[in-house]
Amino acid sequence: MPTPDPPLPDDWPALWQRLLHARAQAAAAPPPDGTLSAASAALLAVYQPLLQARQAIAGSAPHGHPGTWTVAQLGQSLDGCVATAAGDSYYVTGPQSLLHLHRLRALCDAVLVGAGTVAADDPQLTTRRVPGPNPVRVVLDPAARLDGRARLLRDAAAPTLWLCDARHAAAARERLQGGAAEVVAVPALLDAADPARGPDPARVLATLAARGLRLVFVEGGGVTVSRFLAAGALDRLHLVIAPVVIGDGRRGLQGAGPARMADCLRPPAQRLALGDDMLWDLDLRPR
Ligand SMILES: NC(=O)c1ccc[n+]([C@@H]2O[C@H](COP(=O)([O-])OP(=O)(O)OC[C@H]3O[C@@H](n4cnc5c(N)ncnc54)[C@H](OP(=O)(O)O)[C@@H]3O)[C@@H](O)[C@H]2O)c1
Repeated sequence: MPTPDPPLPDDWPALWQRLLHARAQAAAAPPPDGTLSAASAALLAVYQPLLQARQAIAGSAPHGHPGTWTVAQLGQSLDGCVATAAGDSYYVTGPQSLLHLHRLRALCDAVLVGAGTVAADDPQLTTRRVPGPNPVRVVLDPAARLDGRARLLRDAAAPTLWLCDARHAAAARERLQGGAAEVVAVPALLDAADPARGPDPARVLATLAARGLRLVFVEGGGVTVSRFLAAGALDRLHLVIAPVVIGDGRRGLQGAGPARMADCLRPPAQRLALGDDMLWDLDLRPR
């Protein structure tokens, strides 16, 4: 259970305000200089790519998949689980990692989770632990399996989109009555011939981009992040590894991998200690 917010470097609150200002202006992050503490400089290095992406997007005409930028995050155990088998994920990682999660939300336009996460966690997906704007909340539920009673579909704490395949949107609207979210009907979100393949991440991102939501944070769970990764729809992946062993829990990254180690994904990475946890920040689109 996270304790109250952990101590931060003395110079971090002012630097975070500068990052929020850069976000609002779609400007570059302040460069690290000799006046920053080492701890704040290390945090800055993790958030700089998000601000650079916003700046690049603001200066480029969208064509196809470019024009959006996505970061995903999973808080996982040493044995690669994001929750127990019963679906309990409160909390895999520690308090500093929780602050990191809220900062990612604040720097992105939208935070997206799969329906399994909404069903298991009933999350709020706000930035209540850090100063900064709430992103638009997006629930990816192509077959409209949720019952419409989830907190984020009803509380109006931030704009919320319930993304369904067009064939299932009417059912979602019926269940949402009195709720505050918007049901978005996405044509061909599921492949009609093979719905078991799951939602098409490119269609998800195009739908969000059409609403001006270009920096997207995919917050879980494992199935959803894995689908985005397999589709080549992630620019960056933050894996936060906590010193805990879960056993037969819900998997984080999953799916078929190559037969040979030499063919496995081994992207450039930077590391940052978040209390007892270790953040691996993977750059999936190295220049
Ligand atoms: N530690 C972390 O960073 C983190 C982050 C987020 C979530 N979590 C945990 O991850 C788990 C959820 O992740 P996930 O990978 O299973 O799913 P997910 O990626 O959140 O959502 C997609 C999966 O949920 C299934 N699903 C759809 N509607 C559902 C419903 N009403 N009830 C149950 N499942 C439904 C989907 O099945 P179909 O494709 O068949 O429709 C699909 O397999 C939860 O236990 C949550 O606590 C952990």
